Amino acid sequence: MHSTVDRILARAAMGAVAMLATFAPSAELDAQQFAAAIPAEREVTFSNEVVRILQQNCQVCHQQGGIGPMSLMTYQDVRRWASRIKTQVVERNMPPYQYDTDYGIQDLKYDPRLSEEDIATIVAWVDGGAPEGNPSDLPPPVEWPDPAQFRLAERFGPPDVVVRSTPYTVPENGQDLWWQPVVESGISSQRCIRAIETKPSVEGRQVTHHANSSWRSDGGAGAGGQLSEYALGKIGEIIPEGACRTAPADGRVAFDIHYWPNGKEVVDDQVEVGIWLYPEDYAGKYRQTLTLYFLNGGRGFDIAPHGTLMTQGVHQFNTPVRIDSWQPHGHTRLVAMSMQIIRANGRLENVSMVSNWSALWHHSHIYADDVAPLLAVGDKLLLTGWYDNTENNKYNPDPDQWVGIGDRTADEMSHAWIAVTHLDEEGYQELVQQRQAARRPAADQQQ
Ligand code: HEC
Repeated sequence: MHSTVDRILARAAMGAVAMLATFAPSAELDAQQFAAAIPAEREVTFSNEVVRILQQNCQVCHQQGGIGPMSLMTYQDVRRWASRIKTQVVERNMPPYQYDTDYGIQDLKYDPRLSEEDIATIVAWVDGGAPEGNPSDLPPPVEWPDPAQFRLAERFGPPDVVVRSTPYTVPENGQDLWWQPVVESGISSQRCIRAIETKPSVEGRQVTHHANSSWRSDGGAGAGGQLSEYALGKIGEIIPEGACRTAPADGRVAFDIHYWPNGKEVVDDQVEVGIWLYPEDYAGKYRQTLTLYFLNGGRGFDIAPHGTLMTQGVHQFNTPVRIDSWQPHGHTRLVAMSMQIIRANGRLENVSMVSNWSALWHHSHIYADDVAPLLAVGDKLLLTGWYDNTENNKYNPDPDQWVGIGDRTADEMSHAWIAVTHLDEEGYQELVQQRQAARRPAADQQQ
């Protein structure tokens, strides 16, 4: 018990928690809306309902050895965090996944957001005094998968290639750290990737907040582009059959790892990226690329001290495309980003919005197959980013600074990683027709 408290205090001293613990005053208002959703006669207890929500949504991080600052396994663990839990789930800070619930596409492939029902259950439980209930109602504990194994190995066998980041020792305490080594992929001829999974080491799990990787290669097909993205709870990425995500010949892999010291030194940590390849003679019909799209024409900008800024980028494709995923990128002054489509006839469609961006978490939002946006030639993608360099931005380290574009954490960035399948007219029409055919039965299923 002591060690958990010590860890939290150690972090508070570093300012990390202070930065995260400023809650908007609207939390209580939001909570009231949720509170009305659960009828008074239903007694919500830890044992009968709350523990199930924690098992499915929180314990992956909030367990001994996880990256969460405390364990949320037993009633004793959870009881004293009750009011913070309420605030965090009502504000949708926890589980960490910034994606607006009232804008654009909501059907995502990997979606850790709590349902409104689950939030209402937690609010009712906390407002009712956070009772334990009857321990005989407890479900069996979850059996967590072995963190040393690749999860996709169950389905595809061991990966064809494992790329490891250069060893790095994460100190016991200190600030956030970024580690960006570049290593050889070991793939000697150009191939199509079938699946990718990024896995932190067992000891490193507690300090690895995110780990992204991208290709560096000397020109040629498939040069550049992102390889993979790691977020706890996400089980890798499978490239749809028929598409080809290229691994370049003799490419190098550039890591972008965000470590967060957690009270215990981790010596020579390595993050692994497992890559499964399609057979050598497999030729995917359509190329899928994962590349970055700028919001400011790739040019520089300056944000004045105590100032704000909005930037936009418009992108067009010379074939019809399907947008498979979207991942905003920025640092501490970026506060929100959106993606919209401008149809050839001028109509504006909302796709995705993150209005509470946090640079501590980098998530890729993967659209479900039957709703992934389709763009005809002539349609445009519109990206908008909002920056706040005032003291209202709770992540802002110093509102007195001028902020320009750059790689350092103190600078800003302005792009989104977008996975695009490049179709032809025939493939595009096929998808449009499939969706029209699917629409009728789907309409019956809506509640
Ligand atoms: C992906 C990992 C992850 C998941 C899933 C997750 N958390 Fe967290 N949680 C963290 C980390 C890391 C922190 C500390 C830093 C932060 O707030 O971002 C944290 C902080 C918290 C805090 C704030 C502690 C404080 O000092 O005030 C609460 C409360 C919390 N989580 C509750 C939950 C609940 C409830 C769930 C599930 C509904 C959940 N978390 C799911 C990783 C996670």
